[in-house]
Amino acid sequence: MTSGGNSLTAAVLLLIMMKVFSVLTLSCSSTMYQAQDLCCQKCPAGNRVKTDCTETAHTSCVACEGGTHMDKPSGLKQCTHCTICDLSFGLKENRTCTSTLDTVCKPEDGFYCVDVAAGSCMAAHKHRQCQPGEYISQTGTAFRDTECSDCSNGTFSDGTLKFCRPHRPCESLNLKLIRPGNATTDAQCEEQDQDNVVPIIIGCLLTILVIGIVIVIVIYVKRKTLCPKRDVL
Ligand SMILES: *[C@@H]1O[C@H](CO)[C@@H](O)[C@H](O)[C@H]1NC(C)=O
Ligand SMILES: *[C@@H]1O[C@H](CO)[C@@H](O)[C@H](O)[C@H]1NC(C)=O
Ligand SMILES: *[C@@H]1O[C@H](CO)[C@@H](O)[C@H](O)[C@H]1NC(C)=O
Repeated sequence: MTSGGNSLTAAVLLLIMMKVFSVLTLSCSSTMYQAQDLCCQKCPAGNRVKTDCTETAHTSCVACEGGTHMDKPSGLKQCTHCTICDLSFGLKENRTCTSTLDTVCKPEDGFYCVDVAAGSCMAAHKHRQCQPGEYISQTGTAFRDTECSDCSNGTFSDGTLKFCRPHRPCESLNLKLIRPGNATTDAQCEEQDQDNVVPIIIGCLLTILVIGIVIVIVIYVKRKTLCPKRDVL
């Protein structure tokens, strides 16, 4: 670079610094904002600045257009775009955007929030699915994931219930256990073998036969004892 170029650069820098310094020294109240070397009235919430104030004119404000908002008084020339609750992030609207308040998102059903900013959910994850052999020990909410716990011994679950069901007690149902249960599957029982049924049937028939014989004997004996008496009378 030439020395002429250097001095020109220095002069420009000095000018910029002077400008910055003069700007920095201008301090506006909280209801005002700075436009060039003037303090202008801020536009109210729900509005943006259309044109800055001048020596002779107030700030000109205009309402935020649809889909945008301004949540506090400002000197900004653009309203902020409303947040869109993104379904692909598991989000839906809990409060629609107005000109003064941004959208508030919440997790959609079956999701819970993993990232909250300014009271609005920014991202949500799907509730975990309990596995077979587990039960839902804590149902998931919009703020908390589902919790799963293992089934205790002697019970089973496919993972969709809030409890584990006890295995079918084959023995106490007088059934034959053909496959013991585990945490995911119920015990399997089967009707007792025919071998066991035949003696039972035979036993019943024998009982009926014995009762029949007893009845016959009783009737025979009664007749024998009653008839002579009738003869006497
Ligand atoms: C939705 O908004 C209501 C009212 O502000 C609040 O009570 C509730 O917790 C919000 N729901 C979620 C899931 O953030
Ligand atoms: C469940 O059964 C297994 C094996 O049958 C045993 O090792 C374990 O201690 C039992 N657990 C409970 C909680 O009874
Ligand atoms: C439980 O039993 C079922 C059916 O017999 C079987 O498929 C499964 O692998 C068993 N699970 C465990 C954890 O033993």
